[in-house]
Amino acid sequence: MPTPIIFDTDPGVDDAQAIALIMLDPEIEVVGLTTTFGNVHVDTATRNALLLAELAGQDIPVAQGAAYPLAKTPHDVPAHIHGADGLGNQDLPEPKGKAVEQTAAQFIVEQTRQRPGEITLVAVGPLGNLATAIQLDPDVVNRVKQVVIMGGSIMRGGNVTPVAEANMFSDPHAASRVLTAKWPLTLVGLDVTHETVIEPERMARIREAQGALGEVLAKSYDFYADFYREALGIDGCCPHDSCAVAWLRRPDLFTTVRGHLSVVTEGLAEGQTLFAPEGRGFVGDRWMQSPLVDVCMGVDGKAAVDWMESVLTA
Ligand code: BDR
Ligand code: CA
Repeated sequence: MPTPIIFDTDPGVDDAQAIALIMLDPEIEVVGLTTTFGNVHVDTATRNALLLAELAGQDIPVAQGAAYPLAKTPHDVPAHIHGADGLGNQDLPEPKGKAVEQTAAQFIVEQTRQRPGEITLVAVGPLGNLATAIQLDPDVVNRVKQVVIMGGSIMRGGNVTPVAEANMFSDPHAASRVLTAKWPLTLVGLDVTHETVIEPERMARIREAQGALGEVLAKSYDFYADFYREALGIDGCCPHDSCAVAWLRRPDLFTTVRGHLSVVTEGLAEGQTLFAPEGRGFVGDRWMQSPLVDVCMGVDGKAAVDWMESVLTA
């Protein structure tokens, strides 16, 4: 039986790759895409989600969600990384379909009521939709099968501040609620995503295999790769969001550590994820008050990207 997931996303170049991955993987059932601001404004995120689903030939509900962070003043969208359109500035047509009437948070609440214990939430953008779902219906934490989040960084430092990863920094108050909620959670952060690189030759094979969808992925990749060349000096780019899917499908490629997470919400370190490994003694107990979760700390990066390529070229 394929694994049913709701994919919460801000597409975004690497989000687009992950959306293609979940749609092409026969072992995943995409119950819906929920959208948030982040790499782009939320209207653009919704348009891209609809368009990518159409390019993949799939009729999947898309529910629009958070337009702004819960509490902080929003930052400008990172158009220099993802393009103003989120897909590397391509002249793409408008999608034919429309988002459903429900908000993203309502969609999550409703679907998990219909299928208690079955649905996995995979979230790869700022976490306002998941935080709002908990606010709407606190019992949602007991109805999801599990939650997989691309975000945070334990030992790697940040990618938008010296200590904060982008999804956490974009809405630290939402991240704090979601990462400390009582649901079974795995964090897939920069500690592992920076060990994975999609090189140009791989993207050429994906382009070849996927027709119009492959064209969109490849063109957006070219724009994103320029940023990686300048910022990290690598030839290729990190498929951050696809790593959350890889963990779901190929946990054997990852090593995880169990412990307690918290997120800094104010000040110089806003958006930093703090991790207290299980059983380790620290001064005071405030580090240990959140539930135990799993955090990915290691990955066979090449094998993970091989798996992604195998799905995207099948
Ligand atoms: C995360 O931030 C976004 O820019 C990417 O889509 C990914 O979800 C990486 O830090
Ligand atoms: Ca993302």
